[in-house]
Amino acid sequence: MRTTIFRDRQKLSEYYIPSELRVRRKEAILLTRKILLRFSEGRAGDVIAIFGSPGRSGIGKTTLTKYVGHMLNELAPERGIKFKFIYINVYAAPSLHEILTVIASQISPKINIRGSSSLEALKTIVDYIYEKNLFILIAIDEFQNLVKSPKVDDAYLYSLLRIYEQVPPPDGIPRISYILVASDYLILSELRSKMPQIESQISFRLHLKPYTVEELYNILEQRAEEALYENTWTPEILYMIAEHYGIDGNGLQDGNARRALNALNTAAEQAEFEGANRITPEYVRRALAVDSMANVSYQDLEGLSTHELLVLYAVAKHTLEEGEWLTTGQLRRIYSEIAEYYGETARGHTQFNMYINNLKSIQLLDVNPSGKGMRGRTSLIRLRPDMPARPLIEVLENILKKRLGGV
Ligand SMILES: Nc1ncnc2c1ncn2[C@@H]1O[C@H](COP(=O)(O)OP(=O)(O)OP(=O)(O)O)[C@@H](O)[C@H]1O
Ligand SMILES: [Mg+2]
Repeated sequence: MRTTIFRDRQKLSEYYIPSELRVRRKEAILLTRKILLRFSEGRAGDVIAIFGSPGRSGIGKTTLTKYVGHMLNELAPERGIKFKFIYINVYAAPSLHEILTVIASQISPKINIRGSSSLEALKTIVDYIYEKNLFILIAIDEFQNLVKSPKVDDAYLYSLLRIYEQVPPPDGIPRISYILVASDYLILSELRSKMPQIESQISFRLHLKPYTVEELYNILEQRAEEALYENTWTPEILYMIAEHYGIDGNGLQDGNARRALNALNTAAEQAEFEGANRITPEYVRRALAVDSMANVSYQDLEGLSTHELLVLYAVAKHTLEEGEWLTTGQLRRIYSEIAEYYGETARGHTQFNMYINNLKSIQLLDVNPSGKGMRGRTSLIRLRPDMPARPLIEVLENILKKRLGGV
């Protein structure tokens, strides 16, 4: 099939790292310089920590780390430094020995630590890099898993990060530096109370913040240029995405570059699938809707009765057009209108209240029983606050259309 949209699909993949960072460039240069300086002075041994904030991901921790590794791979030889970058993701919280095996095999297939104890393995590694006068930077990504894992003994971590106390190199020159990449700063406080010696070893900390609209725009633009044909995208559609995810934008505000890039990819794929020759705002809107709704399962919504869907629709419509809370009376009026629109007869009080209760129990609606200053049993209702109204409406329309036929 001829592709109409993608020039190079792989450039939008999660694992691709651009050859030039437009965002976080300053941080990358700072870290690279710092590490390189230490290497050329012949005193590595730094421990650098890169971390984010709780609950924030896709903020470029891994990207920045690998980029620094690539830059060092290029720059170190120019200064006559023999260098190797080693990247380990400890997602599965392996044992120290497994980590050492990865390190050894990445340094050289010639290093054999099979069957040796961890201490022996450390010594083998230190000896090898001393002999070859090799400097290495070891990045340990998802470091929080090592701190939290009951499988990982504190003493092991200690010997890994303070390798030179365990096995001093013959010439006394430390040749290994570390970058610890952790999800958030709480992990560092945990580290401080669990292993203060290691925490105090950290000589440089970099706290990465969620991306702003402007930053996301720049990241998206670079990838669009690389991955998509010219004229298939516009700054307008990229801003739609950046505004949606940027921490200072008007949408989800989670500052996550991964989600923003995924949304662009989804929109591009859909445009291509439908044989369009450009990505219109409509494709972007759909991609954003799909992503926002990922928190609420489509199946959950499909499992609701038609009139529950209509009630939920009514609340979402109010949220979008009027604002947050509405009374049961208001809700009933909007619901009746929408039901009529879809050719359905609005149900009576008792059933209507049941729908609300059910939607409340599955946490799609917030219901506050005491409408202050209001008579009778009026409640105040709103859409669960973390649920975006617009995409919800789009999904509800889809389901209702399927169920009740085209309107
Ligand atoms: N500064 C940047 N420039 C270009 N692309 C970026 C940048 N930051 C992040 N990305 C892209 O966003 C995606 C997510 O970034 P990354 O994996 O580095 O985030 P993370 O903070 O490590 O996330 P997690 O918390 O999930 O580990 C990647 O596909 C990456 O290519
Ligand atoms: Mg990461």
